[in-house]
Amino acid sequence: TKIKDFQATFLSWYDLEKRTLPWRENNDPYRIWVSEIMLQQTRVDTVIPYYLNFMNLFPTIQDLADADEDVLLKAWEGLGYYSRVRNLQKAAIQIVTEFNGEMPKDPALIATLKGIGPYTTGAISSMAFQLPIPAVDGNVMRVVSRLFEISEDIAKPASRKTFEKIMTDIIDPHKPGDFNQAMMDLGSSTCTPTTPTCNLCPINEFCQSFEKGTMLQYPVKSKK
Ligand code: ADE
Repeated sequence: TKIKDFQATFLSWYDLEKRTLPWRENNDPYRIWVSEIMLQQTRVDTVIPYYLNFMNLFPTIQDLADADEDVLLKAWEGLGYYSRVRNLQKAAIQIVTEFNGEMPKDPALIATLKGIGPYTTGAISSMAFQLPIPAVDGNVMRVVSRLFEISEDIAKPASRKTFEKIMTDIIDPHKPGDFNQAMMDLGSSTCTPTTPTCNLCPINEFCQSFEKGTMLQYPVKSKK
C-alpha cells in the first residue's frame, strides 16, 4: 500500500542519514526523557554538552530525585526555562515514590508526571517502549501540514489534535520511535520553515505540497 511504501522509504532514509546523538544510543526511558525536556526549548547543538554532563552527574532517576537543588540548577545554568529542571526533579521523586524508581510503561501514567505533556509522553512511549504514539511538536506539524496540505492554524492549541490523528494513521507501528525521530530529522534538515530543499527530500514523491508547489504556504500560522 501507499502508506507502507511511504513508511519503508522514510525509515530507510532514516537508517542511512540519522544524526548520531547521545540520547539515541539506547532505549533507556530516563535518558530519552531528560533529552526531550532539554530539547523542548533548546537547539540540539546546545543541548549535547549539557545532556552529557547531566547524565554524568545524575545517572539514574534516583540520583535525580536525590540531587541537591544548587547542584541541579548549576547543571542547568545556561539552558534557561528553569521550571523544566524543577519539574524534572519533581517527576523523578514521583517515579521513586509511586513507581518504584522506574519510568512507567503506560502512557496514561507517564502523562501524570510533572512537566510531561502529550509531546513528551509520545516521545518516551515510542522511543523507549515502541508504542505507536506520535510526538507532535512544531516541526512535526510543519512536515505533516506540507505532506497533506493541512490548512489548520498551528498557532491554535486545538490544532495539535488534528496532527496527532494524522500521525497516528501514518506512524510505522513496528518502528514508532524511529518514525517520530525521522520526522524530527526531516524537519531540521530538509523540510525547514523558509527554505525547504524538496529536491533532496526522501519523501517528496509522497508530498502533496511538493506536487502542487505550495510548500511555502504551509504551515498556516496566525500571529498570536
Ligand atoms: N528534538 C526533539 N527531540 C529530538 C530527538 N529525539 N532527536 C533529535 N531532535 C529532537
